[in-house]
Amino acid sequence: MAEVVVTGRDGVGCTVTADSGCALMDALRDADTGIEGTCGGAMSCGTCHVYVDPVWAERLPPKSDEEAEMLEAISDFVELRPTSRLSCQIPMDDCLDGLKIEIAPPV
Ligand code: FES
Repeated sequence: MAEVVVTGRDGVGCTVTADSGCALMDALRDADTGIEGTCGGAMSCGTCHVYVDPVWAERLPPKSDEEAEMLEAISDFVELRPTSRLSCQIPMDDCLDGLKIEIAPPV
């Protein structure tokens, strides 16, 4: 289990608890942070886009080619940052306790 420090689209912060083994997207969606996760983690919607705090970004598994392609596909609609990730591709575990992310604008 890990506590994730979230900055919402309105700039207001909150903390979300994520179970180990689940995707970050599931925890963010269940906590009503504005993350939709429409495709359920199939990397075909981009509605789970988050900006990861730069300090934490390096600790995450690297992006797959498919994740990078999906992010590129939404770049016409939303700002991408170097630490942009699809939260459905971030598996949670205890090592990520304290992870800081910001919810990206809607696609
Ligand atoms: S939930 Fe659709 S791309 Fe992540």
